[in-house]
Amino acid sequence: MSLTEPRSDSAGHASTFLKITLPTLLEKKRNRAPISALTAYDYAMARLVDEASVDLILVGDSLGMVMLGYESTLPVTMEEMLLCTRAVRRGVRRALLAADMPYASYHEDVQQGVRNALRFVKEAGAEAVKVEGGRNRVELVSRLTDAEISVIGHLGLTPQSVHRMGGYRVQGKTLSAAEQLLEDAVALEAAGAALLVLEGVPREVAARITAELTIPTIGIGAGPECDGQILVLHDLLNLSFAPAAKFVRRYSDAASLIRNAVEAYRKDVETGNFPNDVESYHLSAETRGTFARAKVVRATAAPATIRQPRKA
Ligand code: KIV
Repeated sequence: MSLTEPRSDSAGHASTFLKITLPTLLEKKRNRAPISALTAYDYAMARLVDEASVDLILVGDSLGMVMLGYESTLPVTMEEMLLCTRAVRRGVRRALLAADMPYASYHEDVQQGVRNALRFVKEAGAEAVKVEGGRNRVELVSRLTDAEISVIGHLGLTPQSVHRMGGYRVQGKTLSAAEQLLEDAVALEAAGAALLVLEGVPREVAARITAELTIPTIGIGAGPECDGQILVLHDLLNLSFAPAAKFVRRYSDAASLIRNAVEAYRKDVETGNFPNDVESYHLSAETRGTFARAKVVRATAAPATIRQPRKA
């Protein structure tokens, strides 16, 4: 794909766009131009998010909770992530496309992490992968970078560590925890990370990390000083069936829109209002009359074959 591509959006408007790459995002940080990021998990949503010119689309393992109904992100498998990443890939042309490495896809050893990250790039078209963790991921980040895989780090409230954290809690609130996060961030950058997600950390900690790093930080519940912001699309649309966290802003109430549309459809079917004549296909006037008079030919039952007794 070249840097400027013509295409029509799903509303039929022709447009040209500049493909977003990691250098584009670095440039945005240098120019203090905020980076927009959202999750997407399927083709339709990915197209809409991409057409809205969001810079970075992440196929997050949050799909386990919002798309598959799991209690946490821990059960999400490589196959589920790859299926969704391929679907999103087909819908995304402009944004940078990143995929989350699910729990247990890089936790055994570095080789396992490299093998699975390569699958996202080769089999699903991801342009970057995201891994959770700090100093314990330095070797992995460095090996992935050596293998030409762009890596997004993820620090703070890392949902794959839900049991160790004792729930989904804001991280880095004490001085020593804040200092640890800063050290982890610096170590991930030195290992080659291209971007860093900061989730559920005090604004002041995210601001300091953002100021210290050359690579862009993307915040979620980390205050406005990050170089960019990301939200789970289903939270923003009110489609996640969970109370909104403090940092979520609801931009739409898609749950009510969908509920109302489906109820209206059901009522129309039940009252005979759907489909109407305009929504039906028709025979030509000439065929209609002939067809109305056509005789019904019913198949007659085939005669049963009677077996003849064998001659001795
Ligand atoms: O899984 C996810 O959606 C994420 C983002 C919230 C950063 O990790």
